[in-house]
Amino acid sequence: MLEVNDVSKTFFAGTVNERVALDDVSLQLPSGDFVTVIGSNGAGKSTLLNIAAGKLLPETGRVIIGDRDVTKLADHQRAKYIGRVFQDPMAGSSPNMTIEENLAIAYERGRRRGFRIGVTNKKRELFAEELKSLELGLENRLKAKVGLLSGGQRQALSLLMATFSEPEVLMLDEHTAALDPQRAELVSRLTTEIVERHKLTTLMVTHNMEQALRLGNRLIMMHEGRILFDLNEERKSRMTVKGLLQEFENVKGETLNDDRAMLQ
Ligand SMILES: Nc1ncnc2c1ncn2[C@@H]1O[C@H](COP(=O)(O)OP(=O)(O)OP(=O)(O)O)[C@@H](O)[C@H]1O
Ligand SMILES: [Mg+2]
Repeated sequence: MLEVNDVSKTFFAGTVNERVALDDVSLQLPSGDFVTVIGSNGAGKSTLLNIAAGKLLPETGRVIIGDRDVTKLADHQRAKYIGRVFQDPMAGSSPNMTIEENLAIAYERGRRRGFRIGVTNKKRELFAEELKSLELGLENRLKAKVGLLSGGQRQALSLLMATFSEPEVLMLDEHTAALDPQRAELVSRLTTEIVERHKLTTLMVTHNMEQALRLGNRLIMMHEGRILFDLNEERKSRMTVKGLLQEFENVKGETLNDDRAMLQ
């Protein structure tokens, strides 16, 4: 369960560069909700995730994960509750370490305690089994350096690492955007599978409206630091890309002016 209550964030407050990134935003995700987040550049999507993850502190409001108020916890203190995957495939893993060493680090994070650092045969077996589910043949390359993997393979590995400790919240920030369409499709499919398998509460930011409609059970659109609309499963299942643009127009009284959004 994730709750963001009445959160505001302004960058460079009181200067000519003042930017209101989030304007009194509230969002509640019950356990198991998989929410896709769309919205134009600068809408506040990444800021919302950064505040939920503790990377940024809000000026007002609270963040609750499970039954804990984590508002004042630094990012490393709440990292055990959160799995994150970013747009950059290079960001989620260490290139100079092997696949199994990267997995071992991810494994130590979070709830599973009592295991020694390092790769034991028992862990190696588990890693191979988990990697097999990606269907990329990585289970046969446990000792390969991660820097040798393709962007898509690396992003799939990041996804596995982010979900290894079954975090209470999974946050994905445009994690398929840097991949070619085929790899993006693969990582999309893996996302659905992993989220379903672990019943993860998930927030996924994407600029791809078609992907936002296809994945998850709920969709929100952000604009200028606010949530413009929030579609439940039933409304989402009947929604189209054209419908989303229309909905934006209905709420804002203007057409959505975002090149990346219009291209989808
Ligand atoms: N660290 C920062 N310092 C200053 N301004 C920032 C910072 N992070 C975000 N902003 C500003 O806050 C606003 C919201 O940015 P944010 O990155 O959350 O948007 P976004 O919806 O993720 O956009 P995009 O689709 O381009 O990733 C923007 O005006 C941005 O310039
Ligand atoms: Mg962003």
